[in-house]
Amino acid sequence: MTYPNLTPERAAMNELHADGLRAGDPATWQLTEDAFAVGAQLHSETVFTIGNGQLCVRGSFEEGHPGDHPASFMHGVWDDMPVSVTELANLPRWWGIDLWFDGDRFRLDTGRLLDFTRSLDLLTGVLSRSLRWEAPSGAVVELGFERFVDFSSPHRAAVRVSIATDRAVQVRTRAGLDAHVENTGLLHWRVVDQGAGDAAAWLHTRTRATGIDLACACEVTLDGVEADATAGGTDGVPTIEHSFELQPRRAVVLTKQVAIVSGIDAADPVAEATGLARESAGAGWDALRAASDSAWLQAWARTDVVIGGDPEAQLALRFSLFQLLIAAPRFTENASIGAKTLSGFGYRHHVFWDTETFMVPPFSYSQPEIARNMLMYRWHGLAGAREKARANGHRGAQFPWESAGTGAEVTPSWMADPGDRTKLIRVWAGDIEIHITADIALAVMQYWQVTGDDAFICGYGAELVLDGAVFWASAAKREDDGSYHFRNVVGPDEYHDRVDDNAYTNHLAAWHLRTAGIVAGWLAGHHPERWAQLSAALAIDAAELDHWETVAAAMYLPVGTDGLLEQFTGYFALRDVDVAELRDPARTTSMQQRYGFEGITETQVLKQPDVLMLAYLLPELFTGEALARNYAYYDPRTDHEHGSSLGPAISAVMACRAGQPEVGYQHFLRAARADLRDVRHNAGDGIHGASAGGLWQAVVFGFAGLEVIADGWHTTPMLPKHWTRVEFGFEHRGVRQRVVVEA
Ligand code: BGC
Repeated sequence: MTYPNLTPERAAMNELHADGLRAGDPATWQLTEDAFAVGAQLHSETVFTIGNGQLCVRGSFEEGHPGDHPASFMHGVWDDMPVSVTELANLPRWWGIDLWFDGDRFRLDTGRLLDFTRSLDLLTGVLSRSLRWEAPSGAVVELGFERFVDFSSPHRAAVRVSIATDRAVQVRTRAGLDAHVENTGLLHWRVVDQGAGDAAAWLHTRTRATGIDLACACEVTLDGVEADATAGGTDGVPTIEHSFELQPRRAVVLTKQVAIVSGIDAADPVAEATGLARESAGAGWDALRAASDSAWLQAWARTDVVIGGDPEAQLALRFSLFQLLIAAPRFTENASIGAKTLSGFGYRHHVFWDTETFMVPPFSYSQPEIARNMLMYRWHGLAGAREKARANGHRGAQFPWESAGTGAEVTPSWMADPGDRTKLIRVWAGDIEIHITADIALAVMQYWQVTGDDAFICGYGAELVLDGAVFWASAAKREDDGSYHFRNVVGPDEYHDRVDDNAYTNHLAAWHLRTAGIVAGWLAGHHPERWAQLSAALAIDAAELDHWETVAAAMYLPVGTDGLLEQFTGYFALRDVDVAELRDPARTTSMQQRYGFEGITETQVLKQPDVLMLAYLLPELFTGEALARNYAYYDPRTDHEHGSSLGPAISAVMACRAGQPEVGYQHFLRAARADLRDVRHNAGDGIHGASAGGLWQAVVFGFAGLEVIADGWHTTPMLPKHWTRVEFGFEHRGVRQRVVVEA
C-alpha cells in the first residue's frame, strides 16, 4: 500500500473544518494502491470496503477474479448456519459489471494489465479503480470504475464504469443482480422472483432459515453511444445487456443505480427497491453523490481528529474512523458493529465486548446518537441475556459473549485448530467469559457521563446496568474465607482460560455492583415512578440492594506485593517468559500457535494484558506507583506483535499514563498498521473493529489525555515528540467542545 500525494481539489475540506479543525495533507484522506497483487487481493478487498452504516460492500472487483471473496452485508439480514449459529447473509452480488471486447471477457487473470490504481477517498466514501488492460485480441482498453454507497440514506448505492479503447472494438456489457452467492461455502438465498426489462432488473430472494425477504433492484444507463438494452438472465440472475461498436478514444459510461431493501424495513421490499432505483436513475449520479457527500461532510465534521507531523498516523486514524463510520448502525437501533465490522466473514458478524469497550466510546464522544443505537441494541437483547442467566442457574441479565440478531448467546463451542484443521478445539468463551456484562455497563456509564442523556438512562440504560448487577450478585459465590469468588472464568487474556479469580473480572463485577447501587439511588430520587416500575420488574428490593453492597465489599480482589496485581490465582507461579523468544522480530506466528492452546496456559505470556486493561478502564483503583509497577510487569510479558489486536491501542494509552509516550507510539503504530499492513495475516477476514476504535482512544485518551470529570473535562497531553498537534471536537452534554493540543 502506498500513500501518494494525490491532489484532488479539496474545497470541501474547508467546509468540513468550519468548526476550526484543519484538514492537513490531502493524501491523508486517500488510501491508494498502485498495483494489483493477486496474493494480497483478500486484504485489499477488506481495506477497500465502503458503506453507509447499513450496507457495506468489500472492494471486490466488478468483474470478479479467481480466489476473491466478493461480499456485501446489510445489518439485520441474519440467517442460520451450523456451528457458529448465525451470520449475516452475503447479499446477492449487486455491484457486478461484466465486459467483453471483441469477444474477450475482461478479467485481470487474462490479457495483460498495463496500469492499475485503486483508491478510496475517505472523505466521500468513493472507491475508484482506473486501469489499462490489453485484451488477448491486442486491443488496449481503458477502464475507470467508481462506486459508492449513499451515506445519506440506507438503501442506495451506485456503480459506473467509463470505457475507452485504442481501436474500434465490439463491446458487450452485462450488468445485473446475482443470487448465487455464498458465505464461504454456505448458500443462504432462495430465489422468490425476478424480472428485467426497460433497462431495469430486480431480484426477490428470501433467506433459507430465517425467511427474511430481500429485494435488489438496478437501473442501467449507457451514455456516449446509441445501443439498445436487452433484458435477460438466468434463474436468480436477471441482467441488462448492451452491445455496440466503440470507436477509438470515444469514452462511454455505463451507470448502474442500485437499491436494496429487506423485509425488515419495508412491507413490500420489491416495490420499495424498484421505486428507489428508478428515482436514483431519474436524479442521476451527480445528485446522489451530492447527497451522499454532504452526509459524509457532516459526519467528518463531528468525527475527524487531526494529527500534525505524522501523515501515516493521520491516514491510519482517518481510515479507522472511516471503517467504524461505515459499519456503525446509523439507521437502526437493532444492530451493532461486529468484531470484524461489515467487511468480511470473520467472526460471522457477531458482536463481542469489542463493541462496547473499544468502538462505542468514539461514538459516545463524537456522534452520541450512534452510540445510543449501539447501546439500544443491547437493550433489545435483554431477553436473550436473561435467558442465558436463567439457563446458567442465575437471575438477572448475563450478556452473551457473542451476540447476533436476537441477543441470545451465539458463541460456537468448538473451532478448528488453526495448526491442524482436522482437529477441533473447545471454545470456552461462550460458557465462562463473563466480564462482558460489566463491559456493557461501563459503556453505558461512560455514555451517560459525557452526554448527560438522562432520558436514555431512565428509559433504557438503567435497566441494562441494574439487571446486570442482579446477575453478578446471584452468580458470585461466598466461600469459607468469607469472600465472593468467580472461579473457572476467562478474562480478556484468552491465552489463559478456565482460571480462578481473574482480577479484571472480579474488579469489574465489584465496580458494576457499586455503580448499580448509585444508578438505583439516582433513579429512585429523580424518576421515582420509573424506579418503582423497574425495581418491581427486576425484583430489586432493599435486601437485594444490600446484597449488592455486601458482594462488592467482600469480593475477592487479588493484590500482590507493592500493588502488583496477580492476573488470576496462580499466574505468578507459571513459567516466566523467555524475552528473547517473545521479542524475536523474526517470529511470524502468535505465541499460542507456537506453544499450542494448552501449552501457552502454562506460561506467563499474555495475549492481551488484562490487568492493564483494568487499570485503563478503572484508573481510580491504581495509584501512580501501582500503575507504573503493573505496567513494568505486564507490558513485557505481552505478545504485542501477534497476540490480540485489541491490546496495542490500549497499551499505547497505558504507556502514556506510565509517562512513556514514545513507547506508547510504538504500540500505537501496531494498532495503526493492524489492517493497513495486515500484520496478523488475517485482514482478509475483515477489519479489526476494536483496534480501529482503540486507535481513536489511544489518540484522544492517551496522547491528548482527555478526561471527562464531574464538572467538565481537562487534558493531560503526552504527545510523541514528532507530533506537532492533535486537534478534535467532541460533544459534552450536548455542547460541542474543541480540543487543541500543541507540542
Ligand atoms: C480476542 C477477544 C475478542 C475476539 C473478537 C479474540 O481473539 O481475544 O478479546 O473479543 O477476538 O475480536
